[in-house]
Amino acid sequence: MSWVTQQISFTVDDRAVLVEAAPWERLSSVLRDRLGLTGTKVGCDAGDCGACTVRLDGDVVCACMVAAAQVEGRKVTTVAGLAATDLAATDLAATDLATTDLAGIAGSLSRLQESFLHYGAAQCGICTPGMLVAAAALLDATPCPSRAEVEEALSGVLCRCTGYQKIVAAVLHAGDPTPAECVPLAGCAVGASIRKLDGMVKVTGKDLFAADEAPEAALVVRVLRSPHHAARFALGDIDAFLAARPGILAVYSAKDVPGENSFGVIPGFVDQPVFAEQVCRFRGEAVALVVGEAAPMADLDLEDLPVSWQELDPLLNPEAAQASTAPPLHAGRPGNVLTEGFVERGDLEQGFAAAVLVVEGNFETPFVEHAYIEPEAGFARRVGDRLEVHACTQAPHMDRDALARIMGMPLDQVRVVPTACGGGFGSKLDISLQPFVALAAWKLGRPARIVYTRPESMQSTTKRHPAEIKLRVGAARDGRLTGFDFFAIFN
Ligand code: FES
Repeated sequence: MSWVTQQISFTVDDRAVLVEAAPWERLSSVLRDRLGLTGTKVGCDAGDCGACTVRLDGDVVCACMVAAAQVEGRKVTTVAGLAATDLAATDLAATDLATTDLAGIAGSLSRLQESFLHYGAAQCGICTPGMLVAAAALLDATPCPSRAEVEEALSGVLCRCTGYQKIVAAVLHAGDPTPAECVPLAGCAVGASIRKLDGMVKVTGKDLFAADEAPEAALVVRVLRSPHHAARFALGDIDAFLAARPGILAVYSAKDVPGENSFGVIPGFVDQPVFAEQVCRFRGEAVALVVGEAAPMADLDLEDLPVSWQELDPLLNPEAAQASTAPPLHAGRPGNVLTEGFVERGDLEQGFAAAVLVVEGNFETPFVEHAYIEPEAGFARRVGDRLEVHACTQAPHMDRDALARIMGMPLDQVRVVPTACGGGFGSKLDISLQPFVALAAWKLGRPARIVYTRPESMQSTTKRHPAEIKLRVGAARDGRLTGFDFFAIFN
């Protein structure tokens, strides 16, 4: 099915634009995908994170929650419209804001952007465009805001990196009519804050995160994932599925992996399948990928893929996984135990006998989603006889090693190019999308890209594992610990 489109005219950062779009298309998509204005970021597509914050006739809105038809005849301001000092003097209508190097225009930053640079308020930078737009709107209405007013104005934009203190300080500084000097004076530089080397691109929205670029006409990859916690599955007639869908080019699953169908960041524990084989172990586990041209892929309902599911009893906690009747989750892990450790020193009971106070308790730490604002994204392509993968990653060399194993290639035939990384916090040490785009691009000989949705990111990527902890601690009167007994099961 092709969507009905219409012409929609509006202004973006004082530039008149005319786009052909479906009336219900998200403004964030219109800005990024149709106009190439990737300064506006996307974190959730649900109006929750605020990364896509722009101004619409001056009001602060989430661009992902505004339909294209709603902006007809109206004025949109993005982060690219903030660096106004010198750019205001240039012909903005004739300026390609997607390619102009703002960093090369001396003095082009607004006072607010300068302040973000000085305070280190842009760390990974994925939230920074939204923060800046929301803060600029506040400063327009309230030039010298209080801390409470700043906090209220920024409350719709989430930041995972900064703890907000630096951002709030930067906005207060920008609104201060008599601000302290930002740049360390001669002789006063030691101990002063330094500016991030890549801060300029972050406060102008010019930094390129993984979803911000891909080769022209790149194929699109989407991943079929298990809807069940545990299930046996079988793929049906893939040839018939493809024959009925022009532009959908291939479906790949575990049998198509040329090397080893597994990954994992810790040597010896490399047992996470790229694609589940016959049985999937968690809701969100990859079963197959579909790759095709962008338009038919956008229309594709993944539920149309021929796959049959036989739901199994899931093992949802360590107790269930260690029951004598529990099926093995991975080969070579008796009792479903990955690894065990034991440390002993001194005489425990003697230690507790020497204590004047003994406390004990049972504790649980929860499953923790890293919740970086940038969902996983990237693309792959063949370059000569090499495979090149561009992705948001914390560990390009580890990605290269894993991809070489999965693709059955020598290390020097795989190149990983890290994009700007919109937060990772450890989770982006593991690979996620990399094997999917690598497989599609290598087998079809065309660039292939993927951008995870927020639910897909949360379902499928690695987490901080929950723990059940039993703890007993004894202490002497002077506060010295005399005994410490700790037992924990990590899920
Ligand atoms: Fe705010 Fe990273 S700097 S999410």
